[in-house]
Amino acid sequence: MKKLVVLTGAGMSAESGISTFRDSDGLWENHRVEDVATFGGWLRNPELVLKFYNERRRQLAEVQPNKGHRILAELEKNFDVQIITQNVDNLHERASSSQVLHLHGELTKACNLSKTIVEDIGYRDIKTNDTLGETQMRPFIVWFGEAVPEIENAIKIVENADILVIIGTSLKVYPAAGLMSYAPELCPIYCIDPKEVDNLPDYVHVIKKGASQGLEELRKILLK
Ligand code: APR
Repeated sequence: MKKLVVLTGAGMSAESGISTFRDSDGLWENHRVEDVATFGGWLRNPELVLKFYNERRRQLAEVQPNKGHRILAELEKNFDVQIITQNVDNLHERASSSQVLHLHGELTKACNLSKTIVEDIGYRDIKTNDTLGETQMRPFIVWFGEAVPEIENAIKIVENADILVIIGTSLKVYPAAGLMSYAPELCPIYCIDPKEVDNLPDYVHVIKKGASQGLEELRKILLK
């Protein structure tokens, strides 16, 4: 089976009702990214950071995978589909995709401060007095400025792609944004996004649509 590698970003989950990061004036759910998605923000105000991710986790419990997530899961009948996602939601898994690598962490997991202990917490809140490995428990999220340990695995996956698909990411955040450059020379690359994505090389096939419609179109192309 051909390896279909899919890099997804916030736009993948937009039709499920989860807002993207850069479509709203640099604010994310009314917060400055520096306040809720950096280790400095955590040190300044851990209560705010915990509240923010508790809200995101509660929201995740309410939303459903969209048609785009389901099409990617269905494509496993025809392709060896490997998803690399920047999203911290679990909507790919809930749509039954079986190979999902999370570059930026997962909302339904928590860890200790050194990230050496990771625990499934489902949809429950993390409280200010919850501990793990004798430190305050924190969300298992890769904040800005933190290491991205899964990037090496992601690079290996992209290096072996037969087809690469990029969906719903502005490609503004590295190292994820650089993954495309590891695709083999003759690997076709598709990009699905309703807006123009900056700095895409001209050999990328652009499908200027939302994730669900764009994936319906791509499925027809791939199964032809
Ligand atoms: N379908 C597909 N794409 C969409 C849709 C949709 N329905 N709606 C919006 N988009 C596109 C936007 O046009 C934009 O190009 O999704 C993209 C979202 O870009 P960002 O908000 O920048 O999200 P992303 O690229 O995933 O951000 C990367 O930055 O904040 C950090 O760690 C966080 O993982 C995140 C990373």
